Amino acid sequence: MSKLIYPIVSGRLLLRPVTESDAPSIQAYHSLEEVAKYQFWEPRSEEAVRGEVKKWTTHNQIDGEGELQLAVILKKSGELIGDVFFKITDATARQGTVGYTFNPAFQGKGYATEAANVMLKLGFETFDLHRVFARCDARNVPSWRLMERLGMRREAHFKEHALFKGGWDEEFYYAILQREWRQLTVT
Ligand SMILES: CC(C)(COP(=O)(O)OP(=O)(O)OC[C@H]1O[C@@H](n2cnc3c(N)ncnc32)[C@H](O)[C@@H]1OP(=O)(O)O)[C@@H](O)C(=O)NCCC(=O)NCCS
Repeated sequence: MSKLIYPIVSGRLLLRPVTESDAPSIQAYHSLEEVAKYQFWEPRSEEAVRGEVKKWTTHNQIDGEGELQLAVILKKSGELIGDVFFKITDATARQGTVGYTFNPAFQGKGYATEAANVMLKLGFETFDLHRVFARCDARNVPSWRLMERLGMRREAHFKEHALFKGGWDEEFYYAILQREWRQLTVT
């Protein structure tokens, strides 16, 4: 597997491994109800964030089926504005998944789309994945709009297939194949 070199740079952003000193910046948004609403976790306490961050500091290289959790930094100010997740779920079938969580103070500017695009590029160019997918709650409109901006297709709508935070779960799956992504990036 290729060794990743950090930071990974895009137009307005830097993506780099999470460090323990990032905990307060991450806590600032992981503690919010609106950020946790459609995640499999509740708003996180300082202690809970410190625990997550400690794990994430080691999630910066992939060897086989592993995962990345990277901090997203705004180039112009150096602020930590969000975090992105990437996981190779099946190394043999070359399948992977992405996720993203951003501070509401930095939403609505295309930063999450830009960071997720970096993860797709990583998945297809660096790790030669065949398909990248992502899931979201059907009510999480900003999340599925982002996936559609990336060129991902809605593959599934699971209706009332599980219980989530006290009610029925409605879930969308989106995906893009490497050849579809290459077609988009050349047009
Ligand atoms: C999901 C989430 C990351 C989406 O964030 P977002 O800010 O809407 O997404 P982007 O950064 O890509 O910004 C897109 C918006 O910025 C606008 N925008 C402004 N400048 C832009 C630019 N240069 N490029 C692209 N979009 C731009 C777009 O028009 C879009 O606005 P719209 O939705 O009103 O049309 C965010 O809502 C979030 O963190 N939610 C909480 C955590 C969560 O639920 N994560 C997903 C779990 S599945």
